[in-house]
Amino acid sequence: MNPIVQLQQQDGVAVILVDNPPVNTITAAARAGMSEALDKIAADETLRAVVLRCAGNNFFTGADINEFSGPPKEAAYRDLWSKFEGLKIPMIAAMHGSSIGGGLELTLACHYRIATPTAKFMLPEVTLGIIPGAGGTQRLPRLIGPQNALRMILDAKPVDAAKALELGLIDEIIEGDLAVGALEFARRLIAKRAGPRRTSERSVDPREVTPEFISRWQAEARRMYPNRTAALTAIEAVQATARMSFTEGLLFEEKLANQTKATTEARGSIHVFFAERESRKVDGLPADIAPRSIGGAGVVGAGTMGGGIAIAFANAGIPVTLLDVTQESLSRGLSVVDATFESMVKRGRIDAAEKARRMKLITGTLDYRDFAASDVLIEAVFESMELKRRVFGQLEAVAKPGALLGTNTSTLDVDEIAASVGRPQDVVGLHFFSPANVMPLLEVIRGKATANQTIRTAMELARVIRKTPVLARVCYGFIGNRMMEGYAREALLLTLEGEAPRRVDTVLENFGMAMGILAVFDMAGIDVGVNVHRTNADRYPPDPTYYQADAALHAAGRLGQKNGKGFYRYEKGDRTRHDDPEAQSILARRAAELGIASRVHTDKEILERCLYPLLNEGIRILDEGIAQRASDIDVVWCAGYGFPRYRGGPMFYADTLGLPALLAGIEGYRDRFGPMHWQPAPLLVRLVREGRTLADWDRERRGAPS
Ligand code: NAI
Repeated sequence: MNPIVQLQQQDGVAVILVDNPPVNTITAAARAGMSEALDKIAADETLRAVVLRCAGNNFFTGADINEFSGPPKEAAYRDLWSKFEGLKIPMIAAMHGSSIGGGLELTLACHYRIATPTAKFMLPEVTLGIIPGAGGTQRLPRLIGPQNALRMILDAKPVDAAKALELGLIDEIIEGDLAVGALEFARRLIAKRAGPRRTSERSVDPREVTPEFISRWQAEARRMYPNRTAALTAIEAVQATARMSFTEGLLFEEKLANQTKATTEARGSIHVFFAERESRKVDGLPADIAPRSIGGAGVVGAGTMGGGIAIAFANAGIPVTLLDVTQESLSRGLSVVDATFESMVKRGRIDAAEKARRMKLITGTLDYRDFAASDVLIEAVFESMELKRRVFGQLEAVAKPGALLGTNTSTLDVDEIAASVGRPQDVVGLHFFSPANVMPLLEVIRGKATANQTIRTAMELARVIRKTPVLARVCYGFIGNRMMEGYAREALLLTLEGEAPRRVDTVLENFGMAMGILAVFDMAGIDVGVNVHRTNADRYPPDPTYYQADAALHAAGRLGQKNGKGFYRYEKGDRTRHDDPEAQSILARRAAELGIASRVHTDKEILERCLYPLLNEGIRILDEGIAQRASDIDVVWCAGYGFPRYRGGPMFYADTLGLPALLAGIEGYRDRFGPMHWQPAPLLVRLVREGRTLADWDRERRGAPS
């Protein structure tokens, strides 16, 4: 008996129950179990209908992504689905929770689909650079029409049960117990003598799939997924439904699916998907070290970050005590928290009752003694070593033994902070990103004295509050901001060399960055970066042109979005960027003072000058052991800095470029601009000499003792 798939029967109705924890992926074992069950059902003349259900919180959540790298599995899926579809008695998929990707495609091969009111349906493939290639592009248009099918495939977002019913994706919403409702539904079909109803036997009206229809969707695909091809390929597959038989269509789909899987887009996206799982693992951590309890938290500082962190805890159902130094700043912080929940209510993310529940989990205080019971304490006060050391002293005085002591510092030395307490083993950097309740990335900074158990607890904490953790060792800027330094430096310099901010940002955005770096300066506040640089002036190279564009704007009172003018101009209450001649003349004046000549740059140079330092620094970080693996660096930049996932993150992208090409490029700029900023990372030189890649570097270290 297959341990994943059970076959039961009751009054002529067979029930296939699949239980493949944690999320019912369609693994090879699940497929084998279902296939075996279908054989038994087909051989049993007494059966009149079949129900397929899943245990757990969801129906099937998709293909087993571990199989992506192996030989193509389309044929295995196709054969199994046709077995479902070929049954001579009605076959009903009864869905609850999420039905995703291959999990939804399976149901299209069933004859009837029913679902609970809270069920959701989604085809996320194009966001992974692939297409719904297990019959999805052929059956979905036959079931709900090509227009609706393409909407669902391109949106790649969950469709709820009501909408699914309206689309004809499901036949009925089952209130109450799904198991009972599904049996009733089956009995009704039997009573009506309803037979199988095969999606493959339906056809798409060719008049719906006109050339205009296709070009409209292609335009939409290019708009939604610039630089990418998976959505366009999905359109091509859907288009085929109007002119090919179902069987031909399936083969055509298979061909396209295999082509898309081989693209850099798919390999990059899938790489990031795996990298995000891998980054949770800590090399060399003994398996028997259990995390400490994280039942209750305390946060010091109710500002931008502290408030966001408190919300992240409340969102995860963890009670949190939020402390600030005055009643006024505490109240201000709590009202921002309240407003954040309120906007979640407005956007329909939570209801008012849920908001109230979450707000109740957050308690404001001015008294450190209220932290006595907290398992996790996180400091998010102003960025000052003296202040942070003082706060840690106060935390130590009240924290229970073994409480995790986290600091959200972005630039200060975690070891120095840890040295201010008698229990440095409990201290860890927890570098959240703004807004902390939204951004998935959490850099976990391991200090010299940080205990293994503290690291384990921090990684577990990330899981519980639904963050993507990446472990880093102590250095200035950790992984992400350290790589940002050269990237921003060149973007700023390009504006002094006469490039309009929009030109620089457009090149970066065309590459796929979520937002150009100059727009990021405006969003984060130009004063924030300038202050960091002032405080840390002694760390930076002796280069008079270094970070001068932002300094010039700052000196002219341009702080970014917060006062409506930075690299761009903004109208009140609107984030739309407008070009601003005034900003450009400030930049031109500073350039003249510095003796920087105006030049014309190609897009290629703009992109390379911004990206190469970022890639080079990433490779240095790897070599120094600041990051555990190249793929962790990819996670940092994709989850925290808007690097395009479909390019696999900066280290994957470096491999895509080819390390020899990257090295040659960096050396070229070194020859032009001098070695101060353009020295190739020693590891890059070594890897090129040895003909290895960054992926090789990771592979060789995987499983190796650290
Ligand atoms: P903020 O200025 O918004 O908030 C700081 C809060 O700390 C204020 O509410 C202030 O009243 C409170 N505070 C000051 N002294 C205190 C004390 N002795 N006891 C209790 N509360 C005190 O600053 P923000 O932006 O939230 O930054 C906090 C920390 O997070 C800094 O270390 C910063 O470097 C770091 N960080 C900031 C990021 C950002 O994007 N803003 C991103 C990642 C880290």
